[in-house]
Amino acid sequence: MGQMAQKIIKENKDEILKLLNTAYSEEWLAYYQYWIGAQVAKGPMRKTIADEFLEHAKEEFDHAKKVCDRIIQLGGTPVLDPEEWKKHAICRYDAPVDEFIVTLLEQNLEAERCAIGRYQQICNLCMSAKDIETFHVARHILSDELDHEQDLEDYLEDIKTSMEHMSKK
Ligand SMILES: [Fe+2]
Ligand SMILES: [Fe+2]
Ligand SMILES: [Fe+2]
Repeated sequence: MGQMAQKIIKENKDEILKLLNTAYSEEWLAYYQYWIGAQVAKGPMRKTIADEFLEHAKEEFDHAKKVCDRIIQLGGTPVLDPEEWKKHAICRYDAPVDEFIVTLLEQNLEAERCAIGRYQQICNLCMSAKDIETFHVARHILSDELDHEQDLEDYLEDIKTSMEHMSKK
């Protein structure tokens, strides 16, 4: 536990820690949603998109580690029991019951947009609380989530375009 780390942001510490645990839980759920989606996916460009899902899963896993480190540094406790993830998370976990790749892309896209909102929210809070370090951590993760959103949008657009093209033939 970082003594000075906590002293700097004394007033907003609890609020920041609560949001960090929300983000932490959401990262684990996002990790699993991508990972399991990559295993069961069916449809156009299956292999390419499944590889992208696995790459994103790894990045969500890295985000969980970064958020966890910051929670500990601030003297908080990261969520210890996976059963608690869904209670802390506000972004939804969508089980890939429908394995069609377009459905999976849409579900993951929704999760990414939610994550973008979460890190934007953390950045805003940290700006007003003058917590520069958490801001820095959240800002870096935010830029990864923006890349993820773009990647998924691009795949959806490509699939839609090729389907339209094929239906004209
Ligand atoms: Fe993430
Ligand atoms: Fe992401
Ligand atoms: Fe990507």
